[in-house]
Amino acid sequence: MRVLVAGATGAVGRQLVPRLEAAGHEVVGISRRGPRPVDVLDAGAVERAVAEAAPDAVVHQLTDLGGADGAANNRVRVEGTRHLVDAARAAGVRRIVAQSISWAYAPGDGPADESVPLDATDEPPRARIVAGVRALETTVAELPEAVVLRYGILYGPGTWYAPGGAVAAALAGDAEARFLGSTAADASVSSFVHVADAADAAVRALAWPSGAYNVVDDEPAPAHAWLPHLARALGVPAPARTEGRVPWARGALNARARGLGWAPARPSWRTGFVDQGA
Ligand SMILES: NC(=O)c1ccc[n+]([C@@H]2O[C@H](COP(=O)([O-])OP(=O)(O)OC[C@H]3O[C@@H](n4cnc5c(N)ncnc54)[C@H](OP(=O)(O)O)[C@@H]3O)[C@@H](O)[C@H]2O)c1
Repeated sequence: MRVLVAGATGAVGRQLVPRLEAAGHEVVGISRRGPRPVDVLDAGAVERAVAEAAPDAVVHQLTDLGGADGAANNRVRVEGTRHLVDAARAAGVRRIVAQSISWAYAPGDGPADESVPLDATDEPPRARIVAGVRALETTVAELPEAVVLRYGILYGPGTWYAPGGAVAAALAGDAEARFLGSTAADASVSSFVHVADAADAAVRALAWPSGAYNVVDDEPAPAHAWLPHLARALGVPAPARTEGRVPWARGALNARARGLGWAPARPSWRTGFVDQGA
């Protein structure tokens, strides 16, 4: 299959391109700073790039969180996705696989499966984040075949959670460290996924039925469990345990993706954090 990867230079994209090629696909990658410079916020440039690549499928791995700027990321989710989907339709592309997140679900107890609705909160800043996720997911669904991968918190090379990354700096007390997330060791539950497992799911998802799939490891966990463990793995001080839980921080279940043959090579952050790979 000929596959256009939008966001080919990112933390997931870098893992994804060689895996697609190894699976026999022909890959065209786009991003602002890659070999084919395209700004996804420029509708005309996106239309030209997709028409020229003439792909069988598009894989959308675009985020703009390098500056830990939620507004920039939302623009990519809303406008960037719009441009990509319009360009795909114009080029007759039938299939898209797109990166979403697994922590936009409505509040509740216990990890969410894909039947849980997205959070209907109107409280900023979460309302804006969920609106961006909803826009991305509904826009890609305009194509005849659309798979949405709701990734857990990404860790591994190039991420905030990697050795030397922004989370390590924040835990070490660097006030300049910027990332979107929390270092409170409370009862808020998160699900993680290593970037290699995230990329493996995207390769497989080229053949999955349309719909949303949580792509998370097997162990949703409270921050008071995973944060001290991460701190030890990163060689930085562990934060003191605190009380409370963010109501929507519930983690997610991966049975649906597992049912289609995907299984995380790193099934738990317990072992995954210790050796994040290169
Ligand atoms: N689920 C999660 O936990 C999750 C999801 C996403 C990000 N993050 C975290 O955020 C960190 C940094 O985020 P990041 O967004 O910089 O991720 P990233 O891993 O660098 O990937 C973003 C990709 O999108 C491309 N891109 C961004 N804006 C674009 C635009 N306007 N036009 C074309 N391409 C565009 C980037 O390439 P160019 O910069 O070359 O354009 C890059 O290829 C990650 O390493 C990770 O820790 C976490």
